Amino acid sequence: MTVSFLLNGKSVSLDVPPNKRLVDVLREDFHLEGARPGCYAGECGACTVFVNGELTHSCLVPVFAAQDTDIITYEGLADTQEMKYILAGFDAVHYHPCANCRQSRLLTAYALLTTHPVPERREIDAFFSGHRCGCSSMGELYTAIEQAVDMRRRSGRHGRR
Ligand code: FES
Ligand code: FES
Repeated sequence: MTVSFLLNGKSVSLDVPPNKRLVDVLREDFHLEGARPGCYAGECGACTVFVNGELTHSCLVPVFAAQDTDIITYEGLADTQEMKYILAGFDAVHYHPCANCRQSRLLTAYALLTTHPVPERREIDAFFSGHRCGCSSMGELYTAIEQAVDMRRRSGRHGRR
């Protein structure tokens, strides 16, 4: 089957088995490895990408369902100013999620901070409710997010790319 969609702002098409999971298509066919295969069951969040602006577990999306969608991966956001604040905030408090979580946490933080410039902790909880993390705490994540907000505030910007 030929499937076409927007990927990080570019139109792409590929011939692919229709039920191949989107996370595998991104990694194997497009070499975008920020979305990681973890549980393959919609529980860990490691495979998170944006599909039509919504945080989505790409392990649960057969590629045929991605036809004509707009997909953005971590790689598509890595050079945005908002992501630079997030990275700086994480670094400043030495919050370094392991490879399993890192890009999905950054992408989810991006989704949070571009819609909630100064999020409350319950909003952080809501955005990260689709993530299961075995080796860092919510306390560390709160501190890192709050530091990213502070980085942006000190730069004089107030959200969005
Ligand atoms: S691999 Fe998709 S949620 Fe775990
Ligand atoms: S599983 Fe390692 S930081 Fe989340």
